[in-house]
Formats: sequence, structure tokens, C-alpha cells
Amino acid sequence: MFQVEGLAKSFEGFMAVNGVSFGIEEGELSSIIGPNGAGKTTLFNLLTGRLVPDRGRITFRDRPITGLPPHEICRRGIGRSFQITNIFPRLTVFENVQVAVMAWKRKSRNIFLRASRILRDETREILESVGLWDRREVLAGLLAHGDQRRLEIGIALGSHPKFLLLDEPTAGMSPAESMVTVELVQQLARQWGLTLLFIEHDMNVVFGISEKIRVMHMGSIIAEGLPEEIKANDQVQEIYLGEET
Ligand SMILES: Nc1ncnc2c1ncn2[C@@H]1O[C@H](COP(=O)(O)OP(=O)(O)O)[C@@H](O)[C@H]1O
Ligand SMILES: [Mg+2]
Repeated sequence: MFQVEGLAKSFEGFMAVNGVSFGIEEGELSSIIGPNGAGKTTLFNLLTGRLVPDRGRITFRDRPITGLPPHEICRRGIGRSFQITNIFPRLTVFENVQVAVMAWKRKSRNIFLRASRILRDETREILESVGLWDRREVLAGLLAHGDQRRLEIGIALGSHPKFLLLDEPTAGMSPAESMVTVELVQQLARQWGLTLLFIEHDMNVVFGISEKIRVMHMGSIIAEGLPEEIKANDQVQEIYLGEET
């Protein structure tokens, strides 16, 4: 479904992403792990059009998307959430998701869309699935951190992605909250038939949820495999031990 070949990006001579290639199957739930500064977020920015690669190719459903602007990549069915929470703090929870659904539907040119039942129903469905329907009237800026992270996933879902990229969705959450969010994400993936790729730092989350794991280190993917294979990989252990000491 999604193919990356020889992707590279440097910042003033520093190779943040250095020749990354991998493929993702439809319906796959996989993750990218790696120490801070490995290039994970930069890779996501390349995949979603926020950054243009120096070289390499990205293909989604057999069509090239390399170098397309973010809104065009989004329109084709690739959604994302950000490592740093990206919501409208002065809008309510409901409005945050409604805006996302509306932006996605704008092309239908229906001037009554704002009040339309479809829009409300879809917003409701998304909020229920991320567990925020009860808090729909709360201003987003007043939500607890974990709820803001879940709202962000809801906003990403508003654009009806087929392929969803989540950058550290459990960052800053307690272990209990992380678990709830992970279960939620898993359930959503099944319910919506999503293909999921997430960057994650919490190893319990990574090994609990991933069907496949890719390890990034200094701009390259140095290992790819099943969770058990990654756990047993000497090079991976070295990198993580090195980070701890
Ligand atoms: N816009 C930028 N300009 C210069 N350097 C950057 C920029 N974005 C990221 N980098 C550098 O690229 C490297 C990879 O960063 P990043 O992709 O954020 O890593 P990760 O998400 O794995 O922690 C880091 O050394 C970072 O400082
Ligand atoms: Mg990052």
C-alpha cells in the first residue's frame, strides 16, 4: 500500500534521514522506534509533505506522492498527528473535530454543511471512538493532557485517512493512560480498517501493539521485524543500552 525508497533529507549538511526504504501492507499496524534525534519525526515530515526530500521516492497505492504538498497528501488518505499537541485551544472539543471533518468535506460545496446532520453524526462518531463524547462542550485548551492527545487523534480521523501516522501519541501520559490510548488506537484501526504507523518511545506500548517494528538510528533503519526479532537483535540492544548509560 505504501512504499518508500531511498529517502534522504539533510539540514545544512547534517543527514537527518539517510537512505530510508521500507514498505507497508494494507491493514498493517507497525511502529518506528529509535533514540532521540534518530530522524523519526523528520521521516514523518517527509512522508506527509511537511518537508520535501533531497532524494528518494514515496508511493501510496501505486501513485507517486513525493514532493506533494501536505493538503494533497492528506486528501489522498494519509493522516497524521503531531509529537507536540496541535489543537485549537479556544474551540470546544466538538468544534475541533467538526472543523477537521468540515475541511475534509468542503469540496462537496454544500453551503448548509455546517448545520448538516452528516457533519454532526460524523463528529459524534469520531468523538465516541476516541472516548471524548462526554467532554464535547469543554474548551480543548482546558482538557487534561491525555485527553488533548486523544483529541488530536480525533482531529486526524476527521480527514478520513486510510493510512494514519501517529508521532508519539502517548508522550507525556501516565502508564495507565498510555495503555488506554493504545487500546483505543488498536480498536479504531480495526473499526475503520486503518493502516497505522506510529513513532513510540514507550517500549511496553511498542511491544504490546506492533505487528512489525522498524528501528531507526542516525537517519537509517537498522532493523525491521517482528517484536520478538527486534527484542533479540544485538545491535538494537546495544543502541538502547548505549542511550541509557
Ligand atoms: N528543521 C530542522 N533543522 C535542522 N535540524 C533539524 C531540523 N529538524 C530536525 N533536525 C535534526 O535532525 C535530527 C533528527 O531529528 P528528529 O527527526 O526530530 O529526530 P527524532 O524524532 O527521532 O527524535 C536531530 O539531530 C535534529 O536536531
Ligand atoms: Mg521526534
